[in-house]
Amino acid sequence: MDALKKILSVLYIIVLLTWIWPTAQAVSADAVKIGFMAPYVGVYTKLGIDMDNGFKLYLDEVGWKAGGRKIEVIKSDTEGKPSLGPIKAKELVEKDKVHLLAGIVHSGVALAIRDYVTEKKVPLIITNAGAPELTAQKKSPYIFRVSFANGQQDLAGGWYIFNKAGLKKMVVLAPDYSAGHDKANGFMKYFKESGGTVVKEIYPPLETQDFAPYLAEVRKIAKDADGTWAFFAGSDSIRFVTQYAEFGLKESLPLFTVGDTLDDAFFPSMGDAAMGCRDYTHYCISINTPENKRFVEVYHKKYGEDPSMFSEQGYIGAKAIVEAINAIGGKVEDPEAFISALRKVSFPAPRGPFKFDANQNVIENVYITTVEAVGDRPLNVVKDVIPDVDQNWKPPK
Ligand code: BEZ
Repeated sequence: MDALKKILSVLYIIVLLTWIWPTAQAVSADAVKIGFMAPYVGVYTKLGIDMDNGFKLYLDEVGWKAGGRKIEVIKSDTEGKPSLGPIKAKELVEKDKVHLLAGIVHSGVALAIRDYVTEKKVPLIITNAGAPELTAQKKSPYIFRVSFANGQQDLAGGWYIFNKAGLKKMVVLAPDYSAGHDKANGFMKYFKESGGTVVKEIYPPLETQDFAPYLAEVRKIAKDADGTWAFFAGSDSIRFVTQYAEFGLKESLPLFTVGDTLDDAFFPSMGDAAMGCRDYTHYCISINTPENKRFVEVYHKKYGEDPSMFSEQGYIGAKAIVEAINAIGGKVEDPEAFISALRKVSFPAPRGPFKFDANQNVIENVYITTVEAVGDRPLNVVKDVIPDVDQNWKPPK
């Protein structure tokens, strides 16, 4: 009788296990799916590729696993076109069934999917696009940004250029779309409030091939100004910086730009045109943190080139996501748990300390740099730092 009881209880356990096991397996075997949206064509192609490379590099480091689950990334080419944003996001969420969205370079693309991700409750971790309203008046509990708000670093940069660099009269140049205007307005705020004069604002279209007509205008007013402030990114930045030097303006009207325009990773395409120019940035390869030394080394080993700020933004975007997934034991099907874990993520990043503000936008150091010859190549050399700059930064009293 005892033997029969034992056999029955063993059979019971076997039946129970065969019932529970496949369910447990199915849950843990399901990958966390991340839709990665970036431009792989057009003016911002290198930004998209570098963000993607940085994102994958971090996932390599954690074996493409978080919270006990595999990570799968599904790439989607936005072509940097705002009209494609909603189509691509819908495809990723409704067809590919992604749990999270990440990436995005162009502000217009990010703005175009703001309502969709909010309605669908799909967390979006922006690794570049700086449309400031996404973490201010149009903030969403589902939207986070690890890069910058357009205008954020520029608040500090404008103040620095007047008060510390001693440039009092500036010409302003930026692409004629929201990012260009938002960055220019950020720059002008404390530059003007400190007493600075903006001699002229010039907004060429995004993807301008020939800056000559705009540079001719700059040349005409050069005698009335101390310098030029500019923001251009991607292939625009290469054309702008090289043509500025070819026009002979570099010597007469010093260039002080946003970091995107003088990113280290673009110097091989600029020759000596960038040498001696200055910028303010949240990332360059000479930032002296142990995390950056390691990041530059592993990035170089994997891709055979220097990382750009966009590579670092992709890398820390992936790190923030992985840390939040780990904190909730992989339960990404619960977006509220994921976003509440992500809000708490902070770590020493290659750029320095990384954390979010109350509106889920990054707080970060802004480094003031000069492009100098280091060994046999131009490099941003850090000259000064403005710590903990947030999107509502105010000048020191
Ligand atoms: C933007 O559209 O927000 C952006 C694009 C390229 C570089 C920086 C910002």
